[in-house]
Amino acid sequence: MNKEMITIFDTTLRDGEQSPGASMNTEEKIQIAAQLERLGVDVIEAGFAAASPGDFDAIEKIAQRVTGSTVCSLARAIDSDVKAAGDAVIKANKKRIHTFIATSPIHMEHKLKMAPDEVIRRAVRAVEYARTFVDDVEFSCEDAGRSDIGFLKEISDAVIEAGAGTINLPDTVGFRMPQEIGAMVKEMSDYTKGRAVISVHNHNDLGLGVANSLESIVNGARQVECTINGLGERAGNAALEEIVMALKVRSDIFGTFDTRINTREIYPSSRLIATITGIEPQPNKAIVGKNAFAHESGIHQDGVLKNKTTYEIIRPEDIGLDTEDTLVLGKHSGRAAFKDKLSKLGFSIPDDEMVSAFERFKELADKKKEIYDDDIRALVTSQMANVPKTYELVGLQLMDCSNGVPSAAVTIRHNGKEITDAGIGDGTIDAVFKTIDRIAGYHGTLMDYKVKSVSKGKDALANVTVKVTFNDNEPAIIGHGLSLDTMLASARAYIGALNSYLSMEGMLKFRQMDSRETI
Ligand code: KIV
Ligand code: ZN
Repeated sequence: MNKEMITIFDTTLRDGEQSPGASMNTEEKIQIAAQLERLGVDVIEAGFAAASPGDFDAIEKIAQRVTGSTVCSLARAIDSDVKAAGDAVIKANKKRIHTFIATSPIHMEHKLKMAPDEVIRRAVRAVEYARTFVDDVEFSCEDAGRSDIGFLKEISDAVIEAGAGTINLPDTVGFRMPQEIGAMVKEMSDYTKGRAVISVHNHNDLGLGVANSLESIVNGARQVECTINGLGERAGNAALEEIVMALKVRSDIFGTFDTRINTREIYPSSRLIATITGIEPQPNKAIVGKNAFAHESGIHQDGVLKNKTTYEIIRPEDIGLDTEDTLVLGKHSGRAAFKDKLSKLGFSIPDDEMVSAFERFKELADKKKEIYDDDIRALVTSQMANVPKTYELVGLQLMDCSNGVPSAAVTIRHNGKEITDAGIGDGTIDAVFKTIDRIAGYHGTLMDYKVKSVSKGKDALANVTVKVTFNDNEPAIIGHGLSLDTMLASARAYIGALNSYLSMEGMLKFRQMDSRETI
């Protein structure tokens, strides 16, 4: 049977990055893009080129490295955005510009303050201009879920005529029920048949992102936009792994459709993104949650031992879970085994970085008996910050955190000089962070602090994530720190946040963009 291919458009690096706390640096984005290519996604939305110089740089680098998937940048329907998107993807083997403007009455009136005619005029202009950079242009009717179907048809006619090949109908606020999305998609795909591909982009505010995407496919959508682990604005986007596995497992219903996804790369992709962003999928999350294949009750365990299909509808190996969590390497493992492991985990790092990664691995292997895949992922990704190490932790000494006043002595390298200072605090962490502030001359406010063990065992690596504001009027900055010692990991995380802040100073307001900016 000739199956119809569904285009999988992954927006983890764009909408996913809009999840609070999910910002990634260029090197991390490159590693994720390489993994998405291995996973077999058709289109990688690598970012929003006009949002910041950092976004532009990451998209440009991804465009130069990824060859198998189409590389795409988002752009508002504004000339300067479209130009930034076009310039960023220009070197890609396969490239796309994705431009959008809101089409719902509520957005046009209150956000854009534009009449529908003007919205159409701007959409057409953006698509025509995008076509001067690339052949493959996607147009999104933002908030299509709450737009008038007559207006969706009118604007689609205009942008198709202007050169858009894909019309995306986002349920931007995750408001619609499956039958409503199905009806909209059916009407729009019948209307545009043979002229454009209909795409959907479902947010998960009512927990229906995946259900709405599946219903859309049945009703004519041939592209779905989704993210790994369901990351994304607010409640997130439809999860790629859930859509793909539903299509596969329920081939009795969806048997006429197929994707190019190599499902064995699903679990490695999920782990890489969770490690880099520090955002773990909830344990009971479908497909990739830690408990998704765990059978706790005796009755279930008994059933699974007798025959796996009693309680398992997916084989762990189908998502690449069979090779996970095995003891991977030990202190006697050589460079070749380490390199081989990194490439199996999806990392492609240059030779000089491989040398230092191997050294860090050896240091860890000396102290930690059992090293797991997640340890290796954390070890490699913790070094991926492409921000200058303006401040570097050299030493940390903690004093009396039980009876006396918690205090910390910190040594930091700055401009080639080592500076030591000591300070007190309400608790040990407070003392450490205050002392770092004193040395660096900044005053950070800690908004969030999380510590997580990377793998199992009492000697597990601690992965600390901090969220800090260094200026009340600016967004919080995330820092990650890794160490066998939680306090060291905390100090590294805080210094990491400070270094990121310093590398972004002056650019932090850049992201607060006005959707009404003129052409
Ligand atoms: O949710 C949304 O409407 C979007 C568009 C920019 C595609 O993310
Ligand atoms: Zn979105």
